[in-house]
Amino acid sequence: MNGWKLGYVCYESLQPSKSLKPEDYNLTAFLLLHLMGKDKLKKWAENKLFPHVFEPPLLPIIRGEQEFFMKGKWRSDFFRNDFPIVLELGCGKGEYTVELAKRESGKNFIGIDVKGHRFHKGAKEALQEGLNNVAFLRTRIEFISSFFGENEVDELWITFCDPQPQDHEGKRRITSRWYIEKYRTFLKKPSYIFLKHDNESVYRKALSEWPEAGINIGIHSNDVYGNFLSSQSEELKDMLTIRTYYEQMWLDEGRKIKYIEGILR
Ligand SMILES: C[S@@+](CC[C@H](N)C(=O)[O-])C[C@H]1O[C@@H](n2cnc3c(N)ncnc32)[C@H](O)[C@@H]1O
Repeated sequence: MNGWKLGYVCYESLQPSKSLKPEDYNLTAFLLLHLMGKDKLKKWAENKLFPHVFEPPLLPIIRGEQEFFMKGKWRSDFFRNDFPIVLELGCGKGEYTVELAKRESGKNFIGIDVKGHRFHKGAKEALQEGLNNVAFLRTRIEFISSFFGENEVDELWITFCDPQPQDHEGKRRITSRWYIEKYRTFLKKPSYIFLKHDNESVYRKALSEWPEAGINIGIHSNDVYGNFLSSQSEELKDMLTIRTYYEQMWLDEGRKIKYIEGILR
């Protein structure tokens, strides 16, 4: 199917309109392809075919009309084992999800992001590498408690989430207390929460807010690639030197990378 036809079909399925005349379709397809990019459409289409990518419609779930079919059943119905489950929140291209999955075959990893075309890269790599301990979920983190059952998740990685400096109530910054309460609904106690970030304010706020939210602060550093790593275990060194797309951008700009290990009780 060429790009024009694909745009036409997508437009039809997204927004069928009786008022649109056939001669308008070429223009619509043209605009659509240029607004979204052919590449994104291709990635969305491929995601739909991947057995380990979940893209449930959000509205019926958050309205309470429908329960997400995998909630509470990720181990039994998808991974088919009893291994711990680790989530990467705001996973972008899914670097941590895939790299940790390669290192730790005795754990299951789920990358979560609202942008499916981003995690398509990680989803494709997991498939090509034959990793059967990886899944991706496209959803908004604000509604994350609708997707996991009580005590279903063992660890969280939060990697370079958007810092949201204007978000004084903390309802958009996914490291805030408001979000921690949501994570508490599905995390086992105790469980680890790992944060990697370039932003000083996100780091400082997590250090001050997390203990109030019942999270003990373990190892932490405001400059991971300074002297910190030399005194850490080989295992931690290996995990912390996985570099995400955004991390590499910030390193190229000369920013320092921060890390916190929190234990939710
Ligand atoms: C700065 S990027 C970091 C991506 C990746 N972790 C990395 O380090 O390269 C932040 C990511 O969080 C996702 N994101 C932001 N807000 C979100 C939300 N409310 N729910 C789900 N994903 C969100 C974005 O789509 C984006 O991929």
